[in-house]
Amino acid sequence: KTIYLKDYKAPDYWVDETQLTFELFEDHALVHSRLALRLNSDLHGDGALPALTLHGQELALLKVVLDERELGEGDYQVDDDSLSLQPADATFALALTTRIEPQNNTALEGLYKSGSMFCTQCEAEGFRKITYYLDRPDVMSRFTTTVIAERERYPVLLSNGNPIASGEHEGGRHWVSWEDPFPKPAYLFALVAGDLCLLQDSFTTMSGREIDLRIYVEPENRTQCDHAMDSLKRSMRWDEEVYGREYDLDIFMIVAVNDFNMGAMENKGLNIFNSSCVLAHQDTATDMAFQRVEAVVAHEYFHNWSGNRVTCRDWFQLSLKEGFTVFRDSEFSADMNSRTVKRIEDVTFLRANQFAEDAGPMAHPVRPDSFIEISNFYTLTVYEKGAEVVRMLHTLLGEEGFRKGTDLYFERHDGQAVTCDDFIKALEDANGADFSQFKRWYSQAGTPRLSVTSEYDASRCEYRLHFNQVCPPTPGQPDKLPQVIPVRMALLDRDGKEMTLRLNGEALGTEAVVSITEAEQTLVFENVPTCPLPSLLRGFSAPVKLSYPYSRDDRVFLAKHDPDGFNRWEAAQGLAVDVLQGLVDIHRAGRPLNLDQRLVDVMRSVITDSELDAAMVAEIIRLPSEAYLVEVAEVADVDAIHFAREWLRRALAVALRDDMAARYQALAAAGAGEFSPSASAMADRSLKNSLLGYLMLTGEQEVLNWCVRQFVEASNMTDRQAALVALVNSPFEQQREAALADFAERWAAYPLVMDQWFSVQAMASQPGALERVQKLMEHPLFTMRNPNKVRALIGAFVNQNLANFHAIDGSGYAFLADRIIELDRSNPQIASRLVTPLSRWRKFDDERQALMREQLSRILAEKLSPDVYEVVSKSLA
Ligand code: ARG
Ligand code: ZN
Repeated sequence: KTIYLKDYKAPDYWVDETQLTFELFEDHALVHSRLALRLNSDLHGDGALPALTLHGQELALLKVVLDERELGEGDYQVDDDSLSLQPADATFALALTTRIEPQNNTALEGLYKSGSMFCTQCEAEGFRKITYYLDRPDVMSRFTTTVIAERERYPVLLSNGNPIASGEHEGGRHWVSWEDPFPKPAYLFALVAGDLCLLQDSFTTMSGREIDLRIYVEPENRTQCDHAMDSLKRSMRWDEEVYGREYDLDIFMIVAVNDFNMGAMENKGLNIFNSSCVLAHQDTATDMAFQRVEAVVAHEYFHNWSGNRVTCRDWFQLSLKEGFTVFRDSEFSADMNSRTVKRIEDVTFLRANQFAEDAGPMAHPVRPDSFIEISNFYTLTVYEKGAEVVRMLHTLLGEEGFRKGTDLYFERHDGQAVTCDDFIKALEDANGADFSQFKRWYSQAGTPRLSVTSEYDASRCEYRLHFNQVCPPTPGQPDKLPQVIPVRMALLDRDGKEMTLRLNGEALGTEAVVSITEAEQTLVFENVPTCPLPSLLRGFSAPVKLSYPYSRDDRVFLAKHDPDGFNRWEAAQGLAVDVLQGLVDIHRAGRPLNLDQRLVDVMRSVITDSELDAAMVAEIIRLPSEAYLVEVAEVADVDAIHFAREWLRRALAVALRDDMAARYQALAAAGAGEFSPSASAMADRSLKNSLLGYLMLTGEQEVLNWCVRQFVEASNMTDRQAALVALVNSPFEQQREAALADFAERWAAYPLVMDQWFSVQAMASQPGALERVQKLMEHPLFTMRNPNKVRALIGAFVNQNLANFHAIDGSGYAFLADRIIELDRSNPQIASRLVTPLSRWRKFDDERQALMREQLSRILAEKLSPDVYEVVSKSLA
C-alpha cells in the first residue's frame, strides 16, 4: 500500500502521558502501557469524538482498560496492524497489556535480543511492534518507563531520561524506573537490559551544568570505548561553539549492540549503536573505523537538537533531521580533521553511490512524496544529498546568516514536529532571503547536469561563461524546472594566480559564489586581461554533474596549480577518469593500451612533494572506483572497466616504482615505533598503505618482503589490514593463504575484526570469488542473522567486487537473489538493502540486463515483505 505526503492529516488524538512497564522474561515480555489521551480539538472543534485507532503489529493483546473499565472483545476491533475503539470523552486514560516475543524477533525492529541483551530499535515504525500506540512522529508524549527483569542476567536496566527509582522484587527480579521530561515521539523510545559494563566520564556544559556521560558495552569490549567517549565530549563542545546548542538532560548514555540493522540511533538520552560505530582500539580498528566512530557519535549526539528537540511532522520530512544532521556531523569532522580531505571523501562517496541512486529506479526527491515502506527511504538521497542541500543553503547565506537561521529555527520550533518548509522559512525569515526556487531541491529527484562553455573576447577584455542546466527524468517526474545552483569559482591566469573577478561592474574578489538559476545563463566577466582557465564548483558547491571542455593539459595544469586544494584533487580525478574512459574504449576496440605520461607526471609530482598533506596525496593517487566508472558510463562494460583500471594501476606502479618505493620506505621508517593516533600519523599511514597497494602490483619479491614484514610487525590494525589486502590481491598464493590463516587465528575472538577478514576476501577480484564467498558462508563465525556479517561478506561481494558479481554466467545474480529471498524471511530491512545492485540493471549490456531482470522476477514471485516488494517491483517497472 502506497502512502502519500499529500494525504497527511494531523492525528485525531494526542497522547500527553505515556507510562510503560516492561516485564522481561526469557520466552516472552509483557508490556503494560497507560496512556493519557486527549482529543485534537483543532480538528474536532465540534466535540464529536472519532474512533481512536492505534498502530500495532505482531502483538498479542491481553488486556484493554478504558478509564478504569476493562473492555470485552466486542468493545474494540483488532486487525493485523491496528486496534480501534470508541472513546466516550475528549480526554481519557487507556491501559493496555500486550505480550511479545523479543527472543524471536529477527527483524531487529521493536524490542529484540542481541546476544544475551535486550534492546530496541523504534525508528521509524518499530514502536508499534512493542505495544499499540499512535506511532507517528507528530504525536509527542512524556514517557515514564519501568523495566523489570532478573537481576542476575540483567543487572543493567536502561531507558530514556533520568533514573527516578529502583528496587527489588521477589524471585531474584529487580526494577528501575526512568522518566524523560521532554515530550517525544515513540520512535525515540529506547530500552536496554543486559549484563553490561560501563565507561563513565563527565562534561560541563557552557552554562556550567555537569552531565554524566556513560558508555555501556559487553565486558570484553571495555577497553575499546575511549575514542567514542572523547568523540562525544568533542561533539558536545562543538555543538555549543558552532550552533549554541547545549545538552539538556543530566545524563547521556550510549550502548553498543552487536546485532543492529543500521549504524546507530539517537533515542533521547540513550543512543543505541551498532558496536562497529562505537568500539575502536588501535589493535583492532583501522583509522577509517576511528573516523567513522567519531562521525557517528557526533551525528547521533547532534540529533538531540536536530531531530529530538525539533522533530519531523511525518516521515516524508526525514531529511529535515537527517540531511541537516549529516551536514552538521560532516562539518564537525572537517573541523576535527583535514577539511579538504573530508570533503573529498564525502564527494567521492556521493558521486559513486547517490548519483547512481538518482539514476536508478528508486530515484526520489530529498523529500519523497510517496512510499510503500518508510525503511526503504533511509537513503543516500535523504541523508547525503539532503546534507548537500543544507550545505548549499549554508553557502548561499554564509556562516553567519546560516547561524542566524538555525538559531531562529531551534527557538521557533523547540518541542515541535515540523516540516522541511518550516526549516527553510526560518532561514528565510532570519535573513530576509527568498528560497522559493531553491526549494525545488526538495521536490525534484535526479542529478542536474551543469554544462559550461566559455569564450574570451580579447578586444573587450571580456570572459563569458555560458551555463546550461538539465535534470534528467526520474520515475514519476518526466519534466524538471531549473534549480538554484551555487557555483563557487575563480579564474586562473597562466601562472595559476587567481584574477580579480568583476561582474556587472561589481568587484567580487578573487573567489565568488555565483547562483545559476536559469536553464541557460551567461555570465560576463569584465576587465579580464588574458584568457583564463576557470576553476569551477570549488568544494563541490552543488551536487551536480559539471562538465567543462577541459583538455588533459588543462587538467594537469589545475592539478598542479589551482590554489584551491579540493579542485586540485578534482582536476587530477577528472584526468584519471578521462584516461580510464579512453583505456576502456581502446580495450573494447581490441587495441593495446598505452599510458598517458601526463597522468604519471601528476602522480609523481604529488608523491615526491613532502610539503603536501600526505592524506591529500593519498586521495590524489587513488584512482576513481569501478563503481564510479560504471556510474559515469552510458552503458557500463564492467569487464573492460575492471581490466582498464587494473592495467592502469599496474602501469602506474611500474612507471613510478622508485618514487613510490622511496616514499613508502620513508613513511614506514617515520611511522615505526610507538603508535600515534594523530591526524598526521593517520595521513602518513593512509599514503604509505596506498603506495604499498600499488607497489605490490609490480610483483617484485622485494616488495613482497616489505609487505609481509608490515603484516607481521604492524603496531596497529590499519597497517596490518592494508598489508593483508595487498597480499590477498596479489598473485603470491602461499603468502596470501598464510596471512589469511594467521589473521583468522589471531582475531577469531573479535567479531568486528573478523568482519574485515570476510570483507577483504569478498572483495578480492581474482576469478573464483563467488566460490570463496560461498565457502566462507559455512565458516563457523559467519551467520546470516548478524547484519554486520551479511554486509561484510555478501554486501562486500555484490557491491565492491563488480567483475565477479557481474560474471557473465549470471552466477553472481542468482546467488544474490537466493540470499535476498532467504533473508527476507528473517530480516526484511537487510534483505531490501541487498536488492540495490540488481536494481541497477539498466546500466549494463543486454545480456546482463536479461539475467538481472530474470533474478528480480524470481524474487518477485515469492511471498515478500513490503520492504523487498517495494524495491523489486519498482526496479522492474
Ligand atoms: N536515525 C538513525 C540515524 O540516522 C537511523 C535510523 C534508521 N532506522 C531505520 N529503520 N532505517 O542516525
Ligand atoms: Zn541520523
